[in-house]
Amino acid sequence: MGKELFKEMKKDWYKNTVIYQIYPRSYRDSNGDGYGDIKGIIEKLDYLEYLGIGAIWLSPVFKSPQKDNGYDISDYKDIEPMFGSLADMEELINEADRHGIKIIMDLVLNHSSDKHKWFLEAIKSKDNPYHDYYVFRDGDKDHAPNDMRAVFGGSAWEWVEGLNQYYFHQFTTAQPDLNWDNPKLRQELYDMINFWIDKGVGGFRLDVIDQIAKEPDNFITSNGPKLHKYLRELNQKTFGGKNLVTVGEAWSANIDNAPIYSNPDGSELSMVFQFEHICLDQQEGKDKWDLAPLPFVKFKKILNKWQTELYGKGWNSLFWDNHDLPRIVSRWGNDGKYRVESAKMLATILHGMQGTPYIYQGEEIGMTNIKLNIDEYDDVEIKNMYKERIAAGYSKEEVMNSIYAKGRDNARTPMQWDDSENSGFSISKPWLKVNENYKEINVKNQINDPDSILNYYKRLITLRKENQVFADGKFMMYLEDDDNIFAYERILDNHRLVVICNFYGEMIENPLTDITENLKMVLSNYEKDDDRLRPYEARMYMI
Ligand code: GLC
Repeated sequence: MGKELFKEMKKDWYKNTVIYQIYPRSYRDSNGDGYGDIKGIIEKLDYLEYLGIGAIWLSPVFKSPQKDNGYDISDYKDIEPMFGSLADMEELINEADRHGIKIIMDLVLNHSSDKHKWFLEAIKSKDNPYHDYYVFRDGDKDHAPNDMRAVFGGSAWEWVEGLNQYYFHQFTTAQPDLNWDNPKLRQELYDMINFWIDKGVGGFRLDVIDQIAKEPDNFITSNGPKLHKYLRELNQKTFGGKNLVTVGEAWSANIDNAPIYSNPDGSELSMVFQFEHICLDQQEGKDKWDLAPLPFVKFKKILNKWQTELYGKGWNSLFWDNHDLPRIVSRWGNDGKYRVESAKMLATILHGMQGTPYIYQGEEIGMTNIKLNIDEYDDVEIKNMYKERIAAGYSKEEVMNSIYAKGRDNARTPMQWDDSENSGFSISKPWLKVNENYKEINVKNQINDPDSILNYYKRLITLRKENQVFADGKFMMYLEDDDNIFAYERILDNHRLVVICNFYGEMIENPLTDITENLKMVLSNYEKDDDRLRPYEARMYMI
């Protein structure tokens, strides 16, 4: 199998597919140690085929001390024993292929673990051949090279006793930044990527890829001057021309640079994750913990811009949540009375747009955020932020409210498969608490219910597969300044797709009845038709 797997695939296959993200720790534990694993994922391939997804983005399963749950890799060519073995990974790639599903691996190329052999060598001496694989600077113990801060708190510089130098880390101290200016380092990364391509993976998600060309002396983290040069080289030396899907995580992506990343000539990546719409419900100039309501009209304008301005020039990725973000139904929907309606409404908006939709595990059953005691959280980001803010004088209540709203563990609680103990995730105590609502919200309850959120997602995926207007139709937004309605049309030749959604919980008038007069309603989250739009109502029409 291996490389041969994808030869027959249609070019740009990812434009007609839906990708499902698995956070392996929390998906399914096959050996009862409380952590999800690769064999657990293999057990669930029938389920994923039922849902209709075309590829799995697998959060990192490489060997790792797990200081940032796998985003700290100590061996890129081996599998973390907690998740299984290399043989399990090969089995997953081949079994998934039999289910028509490709595996997208999550490459962390900006940094490695501080336990990677390269780093262990690098700190031995300045003459060590691996020293230049990382970003070291001189200084003295009391004076870091500059005052740059790490994303998860504290200085971005860490002193190495004995070496008498600092190393640069944009994330935790256990995640030293790799030095992309070193051609040998780059070649090692390319060899490693080709190793996985030879094993038959379907593509890669590239972690914080906009940060690889950092220039800490110039205070540059994202979008360094050499970024696109490096991305083109990466493409040419590895996945370029091989019909693989690549998606770069790029918090700094904007509508001006997105067409460079995802140029249809295939010189860089298939697409990027951009976060412009994701960062709206926070106070301006502050960070995600400083909560603010979602400015709805601005939110629509941003999505409208990405839909229209990237058309023909690049490709969008469509997502509401992932392992770093809160659960969408709790965030912008309603996780109480209208959980089912609002989860379907949000799915309708997302899946009708142009781009490749991503589903984060559990989103398809409407899983919600969780509230834990501070010592029950696992995430390093939550823990560091808690300490920093309490020390800075914030009240405990305020800090906890930020965690409830935005903490990454909201998305990381175990997958809710059924109503048995530990939600069918594991026979043992899971590494992170299961959400108490698992007895009601689980796959088993929804799979045979034609009106469930799960079967609604399945229908959206089927509609996309059967109608080219989803992939190629031109986007036009309606009522951009309306405070409640999210509506748009997609047009491809004489095919039309219209989406009309009430984003909020009040009953409102529907000013768009003329537009849909001759169209057929193909999907809705309410049973009977009505002149008005009910709370969180979603309608999808086609001709
Ligand atoms: C990305 C990952 C996140 C991780 C960080 C550092 O943002 O999605 O989970 O902590 O990069 O690798």
